[in-house]
Amino acid sequence: MSAQLIEGKKISDAIRIEIREEAAKLTAAGIVPGLAVVLVGEDPASKVYVGSKEKACQQLGFYSEVHRLHAETSQEDLLALIGKLNRQDTIHGILVQLPLPKHIDEKAVIDAISVDKDVDGFHPVSVGNLVIGDDSLLPCTPAGVIELLKRTGVEISGKHAVVIGRSNIVGKPVSMLLLREHATVTICHSRTADMEAIARTADILVVAIGRPKAIGKSFVKPGAAVIDVGINRLPDGKLAGDVDFDDVLDTAGYITPVPGGVGPMTITMLMLNTLKAAKRQAHSG
Ligand code: GUN
Repeated sequence: MSAQLIEGKKISDAIRIEIREEAAKLTAAGIVPGLAVVLVGEDPASKVYVGSKEKACQQLGFYSEVHRLHAETSQEDLLALIGKLNRQDTIHGILVQLPLPKHIDEKAVIDAISVDKDVDGFHPVSVGNLVIGDDSLLPCTPAGVIELLKRTGVEISGKHAVVIGRSNIVGKPVSMLLLREHATVTICHSRTADMEAIARTADILVVAIGRPKAIGKSFVKPGAAVIDVGINRLPDGKLAGDVDFDDVLDTAGYITPVPGGVGPMTITMLMLNTLKAAKRQAHSG
């Protein structure tokens, strides 16, 4: 039997309708949710992402500022801009697009963003709050994964979730979120012994390793929910996930396609974080 598709695009569209309604209410009360995106340099993929974020702001009635800085911008100038955005009342969320040029210390930049405006959820205080289980702005892609599972009706509580990949952006935070939802969580990585056998015990398998089609059906327990976070460009120009979709389709119970699975959720969760930040700042200010 073929797996049920987890349709990220449809789910993302439904959440955006909810966000637009909430944003309109907040706007009527005098607060327009505002997002500032900072792009340093000319990375082609980053330019596309930043364009999509700007479009999402327009679509949802948010105020947006995009700061496009040249590749030679000094760290000092970038930190000065972040300081200004931290103090700016019309801005509730700040996102600095990564990767940054080599001469800029990424950590110094992330640390400089006000925790209240950290809509990427990358600030060490946001990460700490996530681990403790305190209220915080959640990293967008991991939050999107949880939302996909919930809205598809996949039970998380009490299930065994295996996460392949231990990055700060996806693997680690998604593991913490799954734990928060009461899954039993195993994290696998490049040095894990017998990863296939561990993966095959997963009710929920989340893959975020950045290697096209690396995970085939030998890693998948029949009926498992497979969440593919990878987006890889193949030599022929097509996109592929980290999971070999065609190979796994008849074994998995649920599967996210690439594109159209996790990808559309990331920006939607960014917008949700900006809305949440705007509401919070309205209450505290
Ligand atoms: N570059 C690739 N993904 C992301 C992301 O989620 N946030 C930021 N700031 N940069 C990225």
